[in-house]
Amino acid sequence: MKTKKVVARSGRFTQGPSDVVARYTESVSFDWRLWRQDIEGSRAHARMLARQGMLGRGELREILRGLDEIAAEIAAGKFRWDEVLEDVHMNIEAALTRRVPAGAKLHTGRSRNDQVAVDLRLWLRDEIGSLRGVVRGLQKSLVELGERHREVILPGYTHLQRAQPVYVAHHLLAYVEMLERDQSRLADAGRRVNVCPLGSGALAGTTLPLDRAFVARSLGFRDEGGRPAMTRNSMDAVSDRDFVIEFCSAAALLAVHLSRLAEDIVLWSSAEFGFLRLEDAYTTGSSLMPQKKNPDVAELARGKCGRVVGNLTALLCLLKGLPMTYNRDLQEDKERLFDTADTVRETVTVLAEMLRHAAFRGEACGLAAKDPQLLATDLADYLVLRGLPFRRAHHVVGELVARAEAAGVSLSQLSLEDYRSVHPLFARDVREVFDLKKAMGRRRLLGAPGTREMGRQLDFWKKNLRKVLV
Ligand code: ARG
Repeated sequence: MKTKKVVARSGRFTQGPSDVVARYTESVSFDWRLWRQDIEGSRAHARMLARQGMLGRGELREILRGLDEIAAEIAAGKFRWDEVLEDVHMNIEAALTRRVPAGAKLHTGRSRNDQVAVDLRLWLRDEIGSLRGVVRGLQKSLVELGERHREVILPGYTHLQRAQPVYVAHHLLAYVEMLERDQSRLADAGRRVNVCPLGSGALAGTTLPLDRAFVARSLGFRDEGGRPAMTRNSMDAVSDRDFVIEFCSAAALLAVHLSRLAEDIVLWSSAEFGFLRLEDAYTTGSSLMPQKKNPDVAELARGKCGRVVGNLTALLCLLKGLPMTYNRDLQEDKERLFDTADTVRETVTVLAEMLRHAAFRGEACGLAAKDPQLLATDLADYLVLRGLPFRRAHHVVGELVARAEAAGVSLSQLSLEDYRSVHPLFARDVREVFDLKKAMGRRRLLGAPGTREMGRQLDFWKKNLRKVLV
């Protein structure tokens, strides 16, 4: 059996881990991404130790300088990560102690268990902020696309069958609404992320006189009132990954929304629908069929949603059987979290960009929207307004639809006599029902796809999306 030197281990061990164990247990190959947060946390912890008299002024200066040097090396890609040192925390601490003897005091009153929790919380806090920014960008793309095609109407569908006419903008704003709820879920998750676990030690705190509030304040962990936000229970603090799961859950729902949008894009850009034109740069060709222009970006957005949902499931399974408190299983949280964050951020970004360069084909949309059957419900409403109970009106119009179908004409092409023979309440003005512009004007309720309401909603979002995110 080959073993590594005893580097990451204490006096307890006579042997380092075997090669396979080192490889199996290391996390530095992925948790190196936490280096900024790890150094930031160490800086705050060291300052606090100095204030509390557990680190000399000179020692603090040395440690801060050492951490700066390490940060610069990592940023320049010159730092040598060592798998034998297991994780980002041990790698940085070992590098510090190698150059600064006082580095050996940095871990005073701290455990990797509360250290990894603080690193993750800092990382996720930033990530949520940047994700919310790109989601804003996608919302803006959708609003702008709707605005650019303010006049365009297309069929709304249920069961993927033509149902009733809607403005393109109304359809797009449905996604803006979904994304706004995602925003609020992310913000809400962010509030619970922003709590400082440092001072919890391995699981049971420490006997040393740490100043937790100072550390929390230095790292920007604050509640809504600006007070330092700290975990209240050391055991909970080192074993809790709710905050990771909450984020991954909000991200999974966001991914589901992106996937639905992607599906609409795939359908709309097909020859069968022909509603949407994607710019060449956002499509791909076929290696065999020269004519093909495929919506691969949208398909991948749909496909990647599966990964994000899978990550959430993996995390829930990871946590469900864990006894209190920290268990090494928890190391498995990072790849799922990083993958989720990367995947949703990239998907949102590419969809936003693609839609900024997309255009609706007004003619194809108009042709589809002109289908008189889309206004069959308006025809029933016409009778209702003249006193007929809706169920009767529904039946009457159903009969007219069947008649038109049998005659091979459209609903609006039937003669007034045909209409009147099915029900005498029909008069000459029934023709107006099929005037699409007027029909869109009749949809006046809050939330309806009518002309005025669509304009109001577009204006609402244009104003709202300008606001800075909190
Ligand atoms: N790499 C570990 C993780 O990601 C850090 C904490 C290790 N703690 C321990 N007691 N082994 O969870």
